[in-house]
Amino acid sequence: MRYLIANWKMNLPPEGMEGWMSAVAREDPRDVTLVFAPPFPFLRDAFSQRRSVSLAAQNCNDHASGAYTGEVAPSMLRYCGAEYVILGHSERRNIYGEDDALIAKKLSIAIETGLKPILCIGENLSVRDEGRVATFLEEQIKATAVPELERAPEIVIAYEPVWAIGTGRNASGAMVAETMVDIRRALSTHWPFHASRAPILYGGSVTPDNVDDLVANGTIDGFLVGGASLDSAKFLAIHRGMR
Ligand code: 13P
Repeated sequence: MRYLIANWKMNLPPEGMEGWMSAVAREDPRDVTLVFAPPFPFLRDAFSQRRSVSLAAQNCNDHASGAYTGEVAPSMLRYCGAEYVILGHSERRNIYGEDDALIAKKLSIAIETGLKPILCIGENLSVRDEGRVATFLEEQIKATAVPELERAPEIVIAYEPVWAIGTGRNASGAMVAETMVDIRRALSTHWPFHASRAPILYGGSVTPDNVDDLVANGTIDGFLVGGASLDSAKFLAIHRGMR
């Protein structure tokens, strides 16, 4: 299965959510699962307006309930219509200090609650420049090898190199293809249950202009799109580029 995921982060587009959703609803998703991750307060409205898209939350707390002011429990996200949850995004890791141990706890509770995790992994520029990408990604995968994984029917990996996020500098299709091999190898060591079936997406400055190069060698199972997903025309152009 291939995926195209719109991660709006903490943004709303000029066309508004209704405009965006009605444009996306006119598209035939074909063999691509379209997933929409709006900010938390928009999930409920998105759920009632959705047609061909599934919904994702952008984060969840690692507890089922309790005195955690400002946080949102996985069950509450399900109540709002979320089917997926993005975990381990580099903005959560780098701005909010989420480490692998916390992400592993979130992964466990998300699976227990019936949310399908979209786990983000990715290296920063110094790791790439030093030629340590494979070992770095393997560490991230190993650190999140929780026992609940064996009970997760569906889990999505998003490879998002930190240096490519929001920078306009995307990884080339050839570079991503090479890294996919490293990720599959690490999955077969640490997540054997999901090694051959987990879809691996790419994220980082994906636009309608670079989608052709990214899909050319056929190893990418889809995209996690930030900035370009805020414009329905660009988001749909990326979808058409996945033909
Ligand atoms: P951009 O597409 O804006 O680079 O963001 C990628 C991303 O972080 C998606 O989760």
